[in-house]
Amino acid sequence: MQDTQIRGNNGPRYRHKHSDSAPYENIRVEKLTPIIGAEIFDIDLTRPLSQAQQLEVHRALAENQVIFFRNQNITKEQHLAFGSLFGDFHIHPAAPHVEGLPALMKIHADENSIRANGEAWHTDVSCDQEPPMGSILHIHTCPPHGGDTLFASMYAAYEALSDRMKNYLNGMTAYHDGEPVYRGTYKNLGVIDKPEYPHAEHPVVRTHPVTGRQALYVNRGFTSHLIGVPKDESTAVLKYLFEHMENPLFQCRFRWQQHSIAFWDNRCVQHRAMWDYWPNTRSGHRVTVSGDKPFYRPI
Ligand code: SIN
Repeated sequence: MQDTQIRGNNGPRYRHKHSDSAPYENIRVEKLTPIIGAEIFDIDLTRPLSQAQQLEVHRALAENQVIFFRNQNITKEQHLAFGSLFGDFHIHPAAPHVEGLPALMKIHADENSIRANGEAWHTDVSCDQEPPMGSILHIHTCPPHGGDTLFASMYAAYEALSDRMKNYLNGMTAYHDGEPVYRGTYKNLGVIDKPEYPHAEHPVVRTHPVTGRQALYVNRGFTSHLIGVPKDESTAVLKYLFEHMENPLFQCRFRWQQHSIAFWDNRCVQHRAMWDYWPNTRSGHRVTVSGDKPFYRPI
């Protein structure tokens, strides 16, 4: 019988099927958990990467969903150059950017802030027709304690669903709306609202274009409702999925240091930033890499 409890006597709620990856030859990769996250060593992002290093960084991202680098004192230009190795830049529809560099989004909170970026579980800009593939965040100013970011594997969240729930969700679509998220959000920073913000319909279960794995692709930040079912059913199912996805079993938590970098894959990861460091300052820049239109392919 399938165990339906988070805690029970039939073993873990989620049995992660681990497959050993081929050894890396140009970087060192240390996993944070068996399920999600790895730290990358023996690499200097202030210098151009070799083709072999670039391929292995890309493979490490595909295998671990989010990867972390320490002690990378990169300039804005080096940050953009690193991001450009993985695709075109995605320009944020609302958030402030560094003057003259629209692809360099500001991530900042201090004692006078009225909000901090990413405080709710979300996937970046999933309201776009072609949401970003990945985001690369460099934090240059850290609070003395706190300001961690949590990342959750949407592969694990999908795989841990019952077969009945998977069958119900496979092939279904959901509506993602930027309007309630962005309108007025950056007004205090001088951002003038656009006439409209993006919205899109995406599969609830998304097939990753690189790994071919299935990932849950609804999030608290942007997903307003499921398409093709009554509103009360949509609300109840999304509530269940949002709570399910937040199970710490599917997560890793990253503790930032000055000049750490996180590179996450928005196609299979959600994240949430902790604003527990007020009145201290946390500051950095994010380069976001463009992605494709999400699709679902039955396996
Ligand atoms: C974000 O990009 O959502 C912010 C993440 C963070 O500040 O850790």
